[in-house]
Amino acid sequence: MKSPEYLRLKELVDTHILDYLPRIDPNSKTLYEAMKYSLTAGGKRIRPVLFLYTLQFCGHTNVKFGLPYACAIEYIQTYSLIHDDLPAMDNDDFRRGIPTNHKVFGEAMAILAGDGLLSAAYEVMSKDMLNYLDDPEKLKKAVRCQYMIAKGTGCRGMVAGQVADVENEHKQCSAEMLDYIHDNKTAAFIRASILAGGYLGGADENRMEALRTYGDCLGLAFQIMDDIQDVIGNAQELGKTPGKDLRDEKNTYTSVHGLENAQKRTAELIARARDAMAPFYDEAEVFNDILDYIEAKIHE
Ligand code: IPE
Ligand code: IPE
Ligand code: MG
Ligand code: MG
Ligand code: MG
Repeated sequence: MKSPEYLRLKELVDTHILDYLPRIDPNSKTLYEAMKYSLTAGGKRIRPVLFLYTLQFCGHTNVKFGLPYACAIEYIQTYSLIHDDLPAMDNDDFRRGIPTNHKVFGEAMAILAGDGLLSAAYEVMSKDMLNYLDDPEKLKKAVRCQYMIAKGTGCRGMVAGQVADVENEHKQCSAEMLDYIHDNKTAAFIRASILAGGYLGGADENRMEALRTYGDCLGLAFQIMDDIQDVIGNAQELGKTPGKDLRDEKNTYTSVHGLENAQKRTAELIARARDAMAPFYDEAEVFNDILDYIEAKIHE
């Protein structure tokens, strides 16, 4: 991502990413070190930036009030990657350019670091809501925001997609099942990060509708791009090992539909996402920047 606004919001997330972790008992120092290791390893911060930018899109010039939720989103993202990389799941050695959490801290600690990050996300969001107990309107927005995040990342979203991903390894699934996997394991969280921003920011129905379409298209395009990058990408740029989907006989857009069709489908989704944001052009810089990024990544 190249736009100054993306970089500014990413910097805001990076600066505050450790601020909202609960104070850890000295006896749990290893837990803190393991969570910190993966949180500060880098990462594009696409989901929290989308969340914060959506607040801006709703008319908030200072988005700092959204930081507890933005950081919670990144805690969930980081937990999902730590668990996704575990030997029992994708068994990966590299993530965000460095050895995976379990390679450094061991499997048990990596599982617990993921658990800790997931719980920390809900701790920080509900702690923030305590500030709004006397302001029902603000509280309603915050509850809706948290609900979107929970739904998108839980048993009717990301976790459901991860289950289907694992259950369909080593056999070719239908095109419908592949869409189900991608919609849930990846698109649901990306869409939820955007819609959560819409709820907390108080978007009107017109903007909410644009955010829904944009979120749906971006979410699916993002996972297809990830599938394509697994085939054409290089380890240094990816920060993870390419070729692992083929190794594990995963169902991906490239394995089920072929590289060219995967590229075509991504381009269609990008075009639809751009159309959704066209009426807001000069207010949609970051939304368009992310689409440009994906577009550049689908070709060699
Ligand atoms: C990786 O997500 C997992 C997928 C959904 C493909 P990102 O590509 O956003 O990973 P980070 O957070 O930047 O490391
Ligand atoms: C991951 O999909 C989706 C998650 C919910 C973490 P992948 O398994 O394809 O992601 P990478 O390629 O390991 O980042
Ligand atoms: Mg996976
Ligand atoms: Mg994986
Ligand atoms: Mg992948």
